[in-house]
Amino acid sequence: MLKGKHLIDPMDFSLIELEEIFELSDRIVSNPENFLDVCKGKLLATLFYEPSTRTRFSFEAAMLRLGGQIIGFSEPNSSSASKGESISDTIRTVACYADIAVMRHPKEGAPRVAAMNSDIPVINAGDGGHQHPTQTLTDLITIRAAKGKLTGLKIGLCGDLMFGRTVHSLIKALSRYEGNEFILISPKELQVPSYIKSEVLEKNNIKYKEVERLEEVMEEIDILYMTRVQKERFFNEEDYIRLKDSYILDKTKMDMASQDLIVMHPLPRVNEIAVEVDKDPRAWYFKQAKYGMFARMALICKLLGVDE
Ligand code: NCD
Repeated sequence: MLKGKHLIDPMDFSLIELEEIFELSDRIVSNPENFLDVCKGKLLATLFYEPSTRTRFSFEAAMLRLGGQIIGFSEPNSSSASKGESISDTIRTVACYADIAVMRHPKEGAPRVAAMNSDIPVINAGDGGHQHPTQTLTDLITIRAAKGKLTGLKIGLCGDLMFGRTVHSLIKALSRYEGNEFILISPKELQVPSYIKSEVLEKNNIKYKEVERLEEVMEEIDILYMTRVQKERFFNEEDYIRLKDSYILDKTKMDMASQDLIVMHPLPRVNEIAVEVDKDPRAWYFKQAKYGMFARMALICKLLGVDE
């Protein structure tokens, strides 16, 4: 039963609960007209303390397409955060007005603090370099659509694996499904944090390897998940400038890969995928952005306990 729950970490939902969300998102994709007013009279609050395009718009579009309404801010300076209000006071206030809240925050753990002080469901829309569970729902739904399964896949994750929160959440989530293998492609300085290796991969005996060159592994992977170097999490600009163009996926590299490869990216992209790759049928990143809205429609319905 997902009604009333928070979503802060990708492990918050059981595999059965995830299956319920996938099944509902399938129904929404095939018959969106059946869901036009299921959230009538409900209000979603979007509390964005960090920039966003896809996550905020897809949540807002999701709620509006379900017949609900939205309030919120996309700029913390326009809220009382700028006057020094605490997260817990802000959420207690928002809970007086809205039925469900989505929060993105630069500080790791902020959405969890909100959830602990909230009577309404709180959804983590990205907390610092930590987790991004609704991007993961999006990613799982996309992989399911492309591959018809979430098991037995060889997944290459490439770029800023240290600060990229989408990567941390996706590894956690995919580690729960049988037979998946990870190839972690990054410069030495941007490797996956050690807690992901010890607490998630090694603890569960999951096969993985770390490599620095993308070319080396293009041929063997089923999924290539590209990521942006997370400029805003760097302590100094020189390091960012040195590392930002570590990987550029282009046609030459795509030619090395299998015809069944899919390329994903949470977006925004900076330079890491050449625009020439967009017309390759294996490029799935804009489809992935679209699945993001359906994923959030299903999630909102489940947390509010509404259905067709
Ligand atoms: C990601 C994020 O915010 O972590 N964007 C998104 O939500 N789709 C990835 C990124 O900013 O690089």
